[in-house]
Amino acid sequence: MSSHATTAATVVKQLLYHHRSFTLTSLHFNRRRISSSLLAVSSYSTTLSSSTRNTKKLNRKDNSVSSSISNNRRALTDSVVKRRTRSDKKFDEDSFRQFGDTGTHIPVMLGEVLQVFYSRKVHTFVDCTLGAAGHSSAILQTHPEIQTYIGLDCDPVAHEKAKAKIDLIQTATNSHDSTSNLKAHTFLRNFKNIRSTVSEVDEKLLISGVEGILMDLGMSSMQVNNANRGFSVLCDGPLDMRMDPQASLTAEDILNSWPEAEIGKILRDYGEENNWRALQKRIVKARLSGGLHTTGDLVDLIRSCSSGGKGGRQGWIKTATRVFQALRIAVNDELKTLESSLYDCYRCLAPGGRLAVISFHSLEDRIVKQTFLNIINTNVSDENNKNVSSENYDEKETWVKQMIHGVGGTILTKRPVTPSEDEEKLNVRCRSAKLRVIQRH
Ligand SMILES: C[S@@+](CC[C@H](N)C(=O)[O-])C[C@H]1O[C@@H](n2cnc3c(N)ncnc32)[C@H](O)[C@@H]1O
Repeated sequence: MSSHATTAATVVKQLLYHHRSFTLTSLHFNRRRISSSLLAVSSYSTTLSSSTRNTKKLNRKDNSVSSSISNNRRALTDSVVKRRTRSDKKFDEDSFRQFGDTGTHIPVMLGEVLQVFYSRKVHTFVDCTLGAAGHSSAILQTHPEIQTYIGLDCDPVAHEKAKAKIDLIQTATNSHDSTSNLKAHTFLRNFKNIRSTVSEVDEKLLISGVEGILMDLGMSSMQVNNANRGFSVLCDGPLDMRMDPQASLTAEDILNSWPEAEIGKILRDYGEENNWRALQKRIVKARLSGGLHTTGDLVDLIRSCSSGGKGGRQGWIKTATRVFQALRIAVNDELKTLESSLYDCYRCLAPGGRLAVISFHSLEDRIVKQTFLNIINTNVSDENNKNVSSENYDEKETWVKQMIHGVGGTILTKRPVTPSEDEEKLNVRCRSAKLRVIQRH
């Protein structure tokens, strides 16, 4: 980034965090600088060297020959998939630092998300998952034409933090630009209520539709890092795992009172955990001695079930991560909510409007992929007949590689986009992220 752009970034940072006033000209100048710096696309070649190194490292650690072969195979498959899907957008470390806050949350694939909406005039935008408002702040900065902005989060801590940021941007935008009429609305609400929320803001908007929607699924770092929320395998805390602390069901309720078969089903279907039977039995047996009440209790149980009690990514931590994921999905009913909300989000889009979804595990990604196909009314067997390469795309955008056209819309990402290697190096939590985008006809 040039020194001008760095200065611009610093000024916007001040706007966001210190609420200082500055002139209309500087606001415009900064916005333009940020947009061009965020969206400068240059060719970026990915190498397999880091995944090969990872594979070698795994092999050294693993004593068993057979598991080393299967680890190798998995790593190779992963690296081939990654090579095909990696973002070719040059990673912009300055904006990563500007809009990300290590104390709260760093927005994942920020440059790629901005790219999705960059070529469009976006007058109305909905962020279904505010978090720390990293994506939202950047979108509002790069789209001064936005008039109606809606942000939702079901977590009160995230909502409060994001609301403060968004309110600040709204005040600064409207007071420094006489032509701007940004109306920002934030809600402490589940995104499954997107349709009623849009209608509450403006009934007509539900008919005309919104031009951009973002879903950045999963947890924010604020949630993972707070031991009291019970999301972290590594910090001891209550077995809670509710995204919305007003919801009634906790992980503790499930572990200590749900039928044994249901526990097994959760571990198998939502955690994709091979050892689900043994874990299911141990969890139910633990009820005889008072049950499980803290994440530490659950981790101890998992460690005692894992062969040899080995730690590290290949050992109990991997199993614990799967078990925690399974419980979190069940507590928050994440998969059903996601599927129905994807349909509702799409129905909220204006013609030509885009819905971008970032998912963090294969169960979510499968739902996004299949629901997008259902929405455009194309089933997997037709998929090959309907593929269109971006060369036939009249609004050619370099990030669009292969699309799938259907009756109801166009999937702009036949394959999902995954983070660049540079982003992965700086933010390990983005490793499993996948971005998929659909555009309404
Ligand atoms: C990965 S974070 C979003 C981070 C955000 N994009 C940013 O840049 O700061 C996901 C957020 O979605 C929220 N969330 C998850 N499921 C939700 C749902 N069903 N309805 C509303 N918010 C949800 C979580 O509380 C969390 O704050």
